[in-house]
Amino acid sequence: MKTSVIWSLLVFLLLCTGEVECQCTADGLEIQGGTYTLTKGLETNSLLVYQCPDNFYPYPDTIRVCHPNKQWKPRPKKFSPQRCKPVECPDPNVLENGNVFPPLERYLAGNTTTFECYSGYTMRGSSSRTCLSNGKWSGSTTICSRDSGDACPDPGVPPGASRRGNTFDVGYDVTYSCNGNLFLVGSRVRVCQENSQWTGREPACYSKFTYDTSQEVSEAFGSSIKDSLTTLQPTNDTQAGRKIRISKNGTLNIYIALDISESVEEEHFKRAKLAIITLIKKIAAFTVSPNYEILFFSADVYEVVSIVEFYEGKITLESAIKNLEDFQIGDKSTGTDVNAALKKFEEGMAWIEQKTGDKFSEHRHVFLLFTDGAYNMGGSPLPTLARIKNRVYMSPTGDPGSRLDYLESYVFGIGANIFDDDLLPLTAGTEGELHYFRLKKETNLAATFDDIIDENEVIGLCGLHRDYELTADKDGKRRRYPWVVFINIQGKSPKKCLGSLVSSEFVLTAAHCFIFSDEPQDVKVEIDDGKGSKEKKVKTFKLHPQYNVTARVKQGVAEFYDYDIALIQLERPVQLSISARPICIPCTKETSDALRLPGSATCRDQEELLLKNQRERLSFLTRTEPLVGEKDVYAKLGDNRDLCIKKALKAKGITTTDPKVPVTDNFLCTGGDRDHIACTGDSGGAVFKNYESRTIQIALVSWGTQEICTGGGMRETTPESRDFHINLFKMVPFLKSILGDDDQDDYAPLTFIN
Ligand SMILES: *[C@@H]1O[C@H](CO)[C@@H](O)[C@H](O)[C@H]1NC(C)=O
Ligand SMILES: *[C@@H]1O[C@H](CO)[C@@H](O)[C@H](O)[C@H]1NC(C)=O
Ligand SMILES: *[C@@H]1O[C@H](CO)[C@@H](O)[C@H](O)[C@H]1NC(C)=O
Ligand SMILES: *[C@@H]1O[C@H](CO)[C@@H](O)[C@H](O)[C@H]1NC(C)=O
Repeated sequence: MKTSVIWSLLVFLLLCTGEVECQCTADGLEIQGGTYTLTKGLETNSLLVYQCPDNFYPYPDTIRVCHPNKQWKPRPKKFSPQRCKPVECPDPNVLENGNVFPPLERYLAGNTTTFECYSGYTMRGSSSRTCLSNGKWSGSTTICSRDSGDACPDPGVPPGASRRGNTFDVGYDVTYSCNGNLFLVGSRVRVCQENSQWTGREPACYSKFTYDTSQEVSEAFGSSIKDSLTTLQPTNDTQAGRKIRISKNGTLNIYIALDISESVEEEHFKRAKLAIITLIKKIAAFTVSPNYEILFFSADVYEVVSIVEFYEGKITLESAIKNLEDFQIGDKSTGTDVNAALKKFEEGMAWIEQKTGDKFSEHRHVFLLFTDGAYNMGGSPLPTLARIKNRVYMSPTGDPGSRLDYLESYVFGIGANIFDDDLLPLTAGTEGELHYFRLKKETNLAATFDDIIDENEVIGLCGLHRDYELTADKDGKRRRYPWVVFINIQGKSPKKCLGSLVSSEFVLTAAHCFIFSDEPQDVKVEIDDGKGSKEKKVKTFKLHPQYNVTARVKQGVAEFYDYDIALIQLERPVQLSISARPICIPCTKETSDALRLPGSATCRDQEELLLKNQRERLSFLTRTEPLVGEKDVYAKLGDNRDLCIKKALKAKGITTTDPKVPVTDNFLCTGGDRDHIACTGDSGGAVFKNYESRTIQIALVSWGTQEICTGGGMRETTPESRDFHINLFKMVPFLKSILGDDDQDDYAPLTFIN
């Protein structure tokens, strides 16, 4: 860091002697115990940012800007030299009815305190707390209280705060303020309710050097954004006991604005942009499809994704993400206009209201604002926010009534110098949720957002996978194909096959993987759920009743593979996780949701969507290091099919002249066309298609005309070789008879549609 500062100074010293006129001087900029960076050397509008080691913060200033009058603003102070001061936590000596040890003037990062209650009082919260490097205490507020007979528990006093109000009965309130230079984040006023709970959430006192950790952001923002995306409904009918049901009511509109003005360093911008992309992809995994407005702003607003276009279907999620990825900061205009960003939100919202009329009341709106709040143009954004509130709350006075949670405004403070006083009033939303976050440049916001929607909880969602996490190692592959199952048959005729997890208890594979004498204990099923034991015990397996290899011997087909499909039932359900989750199969309700089809959609609608082209791009897997490889093929449909299946006549053991005898309508045909070819170990594996972040199995690998490779691997087809896959759309009665059977108590059935 130090060398880069010296280097940049050197460059600018050289430049200053050339054509560029330097405006400011480097005099008095140095910081004791720390370093600084300059965005444009000593030129006008250059931003200086101070950095200190962990547990320290720059004092008295955090940034300076070189003004055209050749002065730094704020100016370096001769009598208070710039230095790194230790991070301090808010004073814990506000504890009532107890003692704090040790009693110190200031509590610095690393200091630990212990608490003791007076006799007759009992302690809630932490009995010992440590001051952390982000300026917050570990644990939770220590409270010494005794039973007063009041309805609500003593709410205590968080460190650094003062509380007014000592009656904790229904209807009474308590009011908090922060001492000294600290500011309050959370609920200023809390009211004791009839259910013995306080409204809102406990406030905290923040200072200029208090930051939220990734984990705090993830927990707080995560829980509240999830409320916007889902309605949690614990149910008894699944083994895992908990299932997230996606709320289909109403429409969600998400408006995102990212500050790209000079005062926000590029690193912040890059991280925030990546985080936004991650979040959007993450949200896409849910069955809600929000409309997006995404813009960058400084003095001007750059609209990257327009909610109007989103609404009218002129822009897809993919192209929205692409626009976002492609956006680069050009020449930054100086100045910041937060109001212009909010006005753009307002415009979009007004359009929606006009378009939807009465239905507007069902629309929910979520704002995500990333800025340091250092606006110097366009005036205060507060009147704009007030108008937006009136619109959403449907109240000219701005009284939210019961509509508070229809507008959630989250503000993420980024930048070296965050204007908290200006930003805090821009938050809005459900009481008790946190809407304000202060982020350090180092915070990996994308990873934070990635954790927000914990896919482990979203067990109801078939085919959900992480395709944006393109790590090519085993773990990355496992998350990309969480449904892949390795099958080893160890009976008289040992065989390796692939399969797919289609529910927490069932694995779909090919019938030809089994022979008549195989017993469940001969079947080894491997699913690495990342929780230790990979091998799953098999309870039973069922082949399609019409599967009969010798059925067409007399018609010139030595081995006939129609109905080559089987279901394996596991002894115990797989513990679902991000690396073990079922794939979507045709004609279920869940697949309609994954495909974003309306509730009235039929099986035929799904098929028309998934197999609509004459050459339909599909994939299947093969065993290869690490874990599996993905093979690309085109299913030949419509007019292309006849030519494709004709090659079946070249296969060994086929003497008929009619390709439709070995290849019935139940098969899809791939090969030629530089497609990959199936190897013997690939049998039974899913032939699938991705739809956004969901995977749908369309067929399963059955047989091919040539044995080109055994045991897996990536190989291309020869001009003559073709593969045939059992089309699951033709196997629905079989799938439904087992997976959709609701006359049993053994497992949770899937819901099939007509
Ligand atoms: C508090 O932390 C500071 C800085 O690490 C340290 O110098 C001091 O000794 C600590 N005080 C106590 C009482 O632990
Ligand atoms: C779970 O099942 C019990 C007993 O059948 C029932 O009383 C309870 O309401 C169910 N809970 C939920 C959340 O469905
Ligand atoms: C969902 O819609 C139904 C009927 O359309 C309505 O009665 C209900 O209040 C809505 N629920 C929410 C959470 O908006
Ligand atoms: C299979 O088909 C052949 C020929 O039609 C028939 O003889 C045999 O009984 C069938 N096997 C089964 C198990 O149905």
